[in-house]
Amino acid sequence: MADRLRGKVALISGGARGQGAVEGKLFAREGAKVVLGDVLEEEGRRTVEEIRAAGGDAVFVTLDVTKADDWQRAVDTAVGTYGKLDILVNNAGILQMEGLEEITPETWERVMAVNTTGVWLGMKAAVPALRRAGGGSIINISSISGLIGTGMQTAYQASKGAVRIMTKTAAMQYAKEGIRVNSVHPGPIDTPMTAGLDRELWQMFVNSVPLKRAGTSEDIAYGVLYLASDESSFVTGAELIIDGGYTAQ
Ligand SMILES: NC(=O)c1ccc[n+]([C@@H]2O[C@H](COP(=O)([O-])OP(=O)(O)OC[C@H]3O[C@@H](n4cnc5c(N)ncnc54)[C@H](O)[C@@H]3O)[C@@H](O)[C@H]2O)c1
Repeated sequence: MADRLRGKVALISGGARGQGAVEGKLFAREGAKVVLGDVLEEEGRRTVEEIRAAGGDAVFVTLDVTKADDWQRAVDTAVGTYGKLDILVNNAGILQMEGLEEITPETWERVMAVNTTGVWLGMKAAVPALRRAGGGSIINISSISGLIGTGMQTAYQASKGAVRIMTKTAAMQYAKEGIRVNSVHPGPIDTPMTAGLDRELWQMFVNSVPLKRAGTSEDIAYGVLYLASDESSFVTGAELIIDGGYTAQ
């Protein structure tokens, strides 16, 4: 065990699998007590067992990020189990590939509900607890799709762009209370989310990455760890791009 997050309590949405699960495992290795929230109960409980088996401290809570009551229960679980909340990672998200004319209103609403409203509700529920803890760190997982256009993914890109700017205005609102808010912008990352993509399209994305590979969940987790820790105490309202150089082209 290392101690970059020693004494801290973290809540991670979408923590059952993919990037959120890897962040949970890394945070626990670095000394944090971790609450994983997700709609996937079985996978979430399995991830918690893995963290405990490795000597970490974690609990699972059922969390649908589109529901304010679920968020309150997740924050209450963190405070009730571990006494406080220091870190929120708004990681839960869903992908959407269609372009502007192809996407249905139902899909648009769902993507915005999970990826954008979910992030707002998470911050709204967490801020009072972070304030009581004397400050804290919120990390909102956006995407390079929140920074540049691809000509598809209309709702996904809109939802992730909204996360980028919502992060900055929250950073401005809460800086005086010592609550830092930053966004992370992953490029193509090998996770269950992208495993379902058409392989030819995926390979095209990966081939366009200057570092010539897809990212791993660990590549993202180390960036999130930095923003969660006190090492980033002078960083707020920032965008951390982890994309193998994709957006630098
Ligand atoms: N994989 C990539 O290439 C990539 C790139 C850029 C950004 N991202 C973003 O990174 C984040 C993590 O994605 P991932 O790649 O690990 O995907 P993933 O699908 O493996 O994990 C996402 C998690 O979010 C959970 N989730 C979905 N809807 C939810 C809801 N309503 N309430 C609670 N949990 C919910 C899922 O159950 C899952 O556990 C997402 O916000 C995603 O948009 C991913």
